[in-house]
Amino acid sequence: MTKSVFENTIELPSAEIKLRTQNLIGFEKKFQRIFGNLKLLLDQEGLLEWSKKFHGMELPIIHQLNDRYPLVILEGDAGTGKTVSAEGIADRMVRELKKEGSFLKLSTRVRGEGLHGQMGNLVNSAFSELKSAAGKKRLAFLLIDEADAIATTRSTLQMHQEEKAAVNTLIQMIDEVRELKGRAIIFMSTNRLQFIDEAIVRRASVVLKFERPTEEERKELFAKYLEGIEFSPDQLQVLSQLTSPEQNDNLGHSFSDIMLKILPESIAASFPDNVLTFDILSNTILNIKPSPEIK
Ligand SMILES: Nc1ncnc2c1ncn2[C@@H]1O[C@H](COP(=O)(O)OP(=O)(O)O)[C@@H](O)[C@H]1O
Ligand SMILES: [Mg+2]
Repeated sequence: MTKSVFENTIELPSAEIKLRTQNLIGFEKKFQRIFGNLKLLLDQEGLLEWSKKFHGMELPIIHQLNDRYPLVILEGDAGTGKTVSAEGIADRMVRELKKEGSFLKLSTRVRGEGLHGQMGNLVNSAFSELKSAAGKKRLAFLLIDEADAIATTRSTLQMHQEEKAAVNTLIQMIDEVRELKGRAIIFMSTNRLQFIDEAIVRRASVVLKFERPTEEERKELFAKYLEGIEFSPDQLQVLSQLTSPEQNDNLGHSFSDIMLKILPESIAASFPDNVLTFDILSNTILNIKPSPEIK
């Protein structure tokens, strides 16, 4: 059997993803923006039925709508939630549409092999798996995570011929996925939108920007994940300030800095004999610098 090009394939809906998504700050707004954009694309049969039912015919605009590309680009700094949100959005979509589906995540491993000539093959096999995962009642999602590694602009001088060919293949595949009529959706995530090939960016139905948390979001993050510890509003305000751009050379802590460094280290400083206090938390923050911005 040939090795799958996917890191893992997740069956949707997934209880685990749902649970994780419930705790994502600012998720609802992002979901609505994407779902709003893809809704028409995702239910082309429904749209046709609607047109016939209410207008007694297939309105010409319907075909125009179907020409859009099922491509979503998630862009933003590292640790701002692009990967977790892609999963969450896919999971929520199948729930909203009362369908089932698969979430395929393109392996970053394969790229490390340094075989430029393999890139095109990789893209091809990814898309053929995507197509076979999409069915009448099933949605198939493909996440090309950290897509700049594959979808880099073809105008770069140093780019190898094989890599250019891979980008062309990728574009062609995105075009072909339209034929699946909304049963397959492609997500691309990137820290560096400026490096993604123009022809790909142009095809995206939505380009969604991810940012580091705002003051309010940082407060919400501490309050939510430490719920049960009674911090006063003033203390939450201080925690938010300590992780703000103003206190950190104009670059605040990212979601992952707080979730994967500050909170675990604070707990490690308390466990197993002490209470997790405001002081422990604020001291920990002072010792952890925000991760640098990736540009
Ligand atoms: N909106 C959010 N709310 C809460 N936690 C978040 C949010 N976004 C990211 N995180 C945390 O940051 C971690 C890294 O997110 P990830 O999706 O890997 O970032 P990216 O793909 O943008 O680098 C997640 O595992 C999660 O713990
Ligand atoms: Mg990521």
